[in-house]
Amino acid sequence: MDLKKDKTDEIKDETTEAKKILAKNELVKSGYSEIVIDHWLNPRNLGKIQNYNGYSGKISSSCGDSMWVWLKIENGTVKNATFLSDICIGAVSAGSMMTEMIKGKEISKILTISDHDILRELGGLPAQYEHCAGLAQKTLKFAIADYNAYKAAPWKKLYEQK
Ligand code: FES
Repeated sequence: MDLKKDKTDEIKDETTEAKKILAKNELVKSGYSEIVIDHWLNPRNLGKIQNYNGYSGKISSSCGDSMWVWLKIENGTVKNATFLSDICIGAVSAGSMMTEMIKGKEISKILTISDHDILRELGGLPAQYEHCAGLAQKTLKFAIADYNAYKAAPWKKLYEQK
């Protein structure tokens, strides 16, 4: 065993942890909730899924940040939901929370999810970033519309390139 390497790794781990704590303290001071910080540092449902049947791609907010959402819906229930977004804390935490909120739910129940619902679950966002929750809600809305279009004409997927 290489003890010197182990010690270096240990110091690196401690440094990374210390940086995370410092960053977290700064974020709390800036008005981000513990929930937001947790979802930003450990985003749930990040990435693309295969065999999705609802998708919205590169939906942009007024600030220029974008989000993508993939849904897998079976028998009217969201079996899986994932997202990608720009690095913005608000967008990552809102996308992460939104996908958690809709997994396992019936489509009819998620149609009414608003940006305020996402904000409430996050414990709020600083005022200048509240629109990030709107981006998550808007991207979800487009993904549901895509699913409804898919349901109406499933054969069209054969001709799409995404
Ligand atoms: Fe615009 Fe987060 S989506 S700053």
